Amino acid sequence: MGEPDFPTPPPVIQAAANALRAGRTHYADQNGLWELRGALAERLPARHGAAWGADDVVMTHGATAALAAVVLAMIGPGDRVVIPEPAYSLYADLVVLAGGTVDYVPLGRDLHWDLDALATALPGAAMMIFSNPSNPTGIVHREQELEALGDLLDGSDTLVVSDEAYHRLVYPGGQFVSALMVDSLQGRTVYVQTFSKTYAMTGWRVGYLAGPRKVVDAAAHVHRTLNGSLNTAVQYAALAALALPDSVVDGMVDTYRERRDLVIARLSDVPGLRLVAPEGAFYAFLRYDVDVSSEAVARELAERKVIVRAGAEYGPSGEGCIRISFAAANEDLRVGLDRIIRHLGLPRS
Ligand SMILES: Cc1ncc(COP(=O)(O)O)c(C=O)c1O
Repeated sequence: MGEPDFPTPPPVIQAAANALRAGRTHYADQNGLWELRGALAERLPARHGAAWGADDVVMTHGATAALAAVVLAMIGPGDRVVIPEPAYSLYADLVVLAGGTVDYVPLGRDLHWDLDALATALPGAAMMIFSNPSNPTGIVHREQELEALGDLLDGSDTLVVSDEAYHRLVYPGGQFVSALMVDSLQGRTVYVQTFSKTYAMTGWRVGYLAGPRKVVDAAAHVHRTLNGSLNTAVQYAALAALALPDSVVDGMVDTYRERRDLVIARLSDVPGLRLVAPEGAFYAFLRYDVDVSSEAVARELAERKVIVRAGAEYGPSGEGCIRISFAAANEDLRVGLDRIIRHLGLPRS
């Protein structure tokens, strides 16, 4: 599962309990608590022209609802959406739901963007969606990649949706730069964020989006139509999460980094397997040589009590791969990785 195995930090739970006891049990502002949106706006990378304010942020039920709001607000029949793939499968599902057309562009061999292929696909596209750091590949897109994307889009109306759910989970070797920090992207980027991964708050369902005011207003309209306001006590819990000392998140990131090192040590140099070292998030995308579909491999591994996701779930070029989540205890990981190697690795000749 793409799910932190840490408990939600106690002060966050306490803040929700306090809010409920204090009678904060009624509707919140439909765009989210003013003070929470203001606190989040302050934390966004500086914007040229106008500083970010609370009105540029909409609180949503996780990043899922932020993505849904922006896609449903901006995409309709006849609109083409470029999705570099393998990609988080929700993006294509939402585009289809909105009546748009998915234009999958395969990643390069190193799982970074194939800029030539993007140069061909982007003209005329209404939107491009990606995650950075990436689910399912664990790749962190480099600043130059983002700048190159900005150059490719120069003069176009194409909207960029940058899902940065894993922004705090970056390991040595990966250098995270938000799309909002890239001058040529800032004005066309809808930034999607969530408390789920950073603060181990998946079940609380709290996320948000920020971006160009017209797009944010349109997304807010969809959001209040479909969902109404986000749970009030949860938003007080989110405020408490923002107040946590950095050491709380850093501690979790250190643990993920150790597990990531374990995955790299175990899976590198295994004949028949090819791993691109994860730079961020908590996923490893593993290519195997055996001629069996990824769906069948996922099933066979499940029979051996190892749960992975089939690469094909994330787009056509994910076939021949599995996605491993290392949001799991070290010992479970060791056992699971050994079973994967026994099942998919080739005997040494
Ligand atoms: C890239 C990415 N975006 C968004 C989400 C959804 O996050 P949320 O729990 O905030 O809805 C996930 C969850 O796995 C994810 O991997």
